[in-house]
Amino acid sequence: MASERCGVYPGSFDPLTYGHLDIIRRARRLVDHLIVAVSVNMGKAPMFGFDERIAIVREEIEALEDGVCSVEVRPFEGLLTDFADNAGAAMIVRGLRAVTDFDYEFQMTGMNARLNDQIETVFLMASERHQFIASKLVKEIARLGGDTTSFISANVHDHLKRAIAREQADTKDQ
Ligand code: PNS
Repeated sequence: MASERCGVYPGSFDPLTYGHLDIIRRARRLVDHLIVAVSVNMGKAPMFGFDERIAIVREEIEALEDGVCSVEVRPFEGLLTDFADNAGAAMIVRGLRAVTDFDYEFQMTGMNARLNDQIETVFLMASERHQFIASKLVKEIARLGGDTTSFISANVHDHLKRAIAREQADTKDQ
């Protein structure tokens, strides 16, 4: 019997959007086992702590569990290629939106390939409906009281509302 094909979909997921969920849904068709790897440390200051980012991903993925392939959510820190190698992954999956993503992804793919040429990076083009969704803009829209319903689920929106309330409380305390 052929061995199981495992893929890693890494990201900061601050927070998870419908764009990420779309990539997860489609990546499941390429592998037998998909690991959604949530980065512990982010270069940029995250709105959500690590525990909440991972909890949100888990909550949203529960709704997808329909036996297409097994999906696991795992924290990761350190080099992505090391994490993927230790997990036995054959591929790293990334979503691509507009050309603006390309430079960063191109560079990261090239450097990751130098670090480990046994792990391929596979890109899925964002679906038409999700081309423009970015966590950063979703947070901005939510902070300004805009409608986020076509970008994130009601559950993620609840998390976002609480995070914004925390931010506002922190600002008042200062
Ligand atoms: O959702 P993001 O912020 O685009 O995800 C970026 C992420 C976490 C995939 C990237 O920063 C990463 O791989 N970090 C792990 C550290 C690493 O391996 N760096 C070398 C990249 S060439």
